[in-house]
Amino acid sequence: MTHQVETLQRMAILSPPNSKSFAVASSRVESSGAGKSHKASHARTIAVTSGKGGVGKSNFAVNVSLELAALGRRVSLLDGDLALANADVLLGLHPQYHLGHVLAGLRTLDEVVVRVGSGVRLIPGGSGFEELANLSHNQHTRLIAELCAMENDSDFLIIDTAAGIGHNVMDVLRAAAEVVIVTTPDPTAVVDAYATIKVLHNHSPSKPISIVVNDVVGIGDADHIFSQLRSAVSRFLNHEIYHLGTVPRDAELAEAVREQRPVVEYAPDSPSARAFRLIAKHLHTACRVGPPASGSSTPFWRLLTEADV
Ligand SMILES: Nc1ncnc2c1ncn2[C@@H]1O[C@H](COP(=O)(O)OP(=O)(O)OP(=O)(O)O)[C@@H](O)[C@H]1O
Ligand SMILES: [Mg+2]
Repeated sequence: MTHQVETLQRMAILSPPNSKSFAVASSRVESSGAGKSHKASHARTIAVTSGKGGVGKSNFAVNVSLELAALGRRVSLLDGDLALANADVLLGLHPQYHLGHVLAGLRTLDEVVVRVGSGVRLIPGGSGFEELANLSHNQHTRLIAELCAMENDSDFLIIDTAAGIGHNVMDVLRAAAEVVIVTTPDPTAVVDAYATIKVLHNHSPSKPISIVVNDVVGIGDADHIFSQLRSAVSRFLNHEIYHLGTVPRDAELAEAVREQRPVVEYAPDSPSARAFRLIAKHLHTACRVGPPASGSSTPFWRLLTEADV
């Protein structure tokens, strides 16, 4: 990690940008694949992760899912933060059952799924995916069939993960077709984002990775952070990353969290809600961020359970 800090410092990734106050929430997709048709029949699977914890992943996953649903897309949201389920808390829900009950064979997927907003199906987390390995062959086959059916019945499968480079998180990132890495302009968050990209790149060198810069105060901060991160990733890993969007620091988002309501419903005109809406619009219209993923017709759940644990 010390070496990475030095490298990023050399790349000027930690130098302060020219900053003025952040006026307009901005978001853009740099996408060579945008607009092209995407033939895979299953959902577009996007894992949301970060190097450092507490940078805004769950808020991003929940609010962008709700906005995609508002645009008419069928969205499944998997709370993949297994140690600390987050999405249900942000939505003010207290689900009785979670994925662990399905994995244990105690509940069917249908009994666990909670419908929220205008078409988001939340799969509450709360148990390790490694339980998949302990199922009998029949249980495993039935479960994967159920999960794949739900995936096939969705346009998007958004997976909110825990932070860090633990093997559970990496298995999810490897199985997802695309990965969104959330960072803040905080230098430690940026360095940890780079570390996550590096580990992911070693496992999946062609994985489409996009960046969301959250909690941005100064105009220009997000572009500065992204371009420094991109040049380090490009130079040292020879991996292209994309800037999916920027979310400003917003007191109304913090208030919405305290109220256990998603900000896009609590304060739809707030700067962060507008940023989430803009990002959802990009995801809605752009077919895929980055280059086409290889092997994209294999469902997420099958890839996940076939991962080397
Ligand atoms: N754009 C923002 N403006 C203001 N506060 C924010 C913003 N984004 C996140 N926060 C604050 O950061 C807290 C953490 O956000 P969130 O739970 O989405 O992060 P996380 O990355 O999912 O955390 P964890 O790693 O613990 O899962 C929120 O409760 C909120 O108070
Ligand atoms: Mg979270």
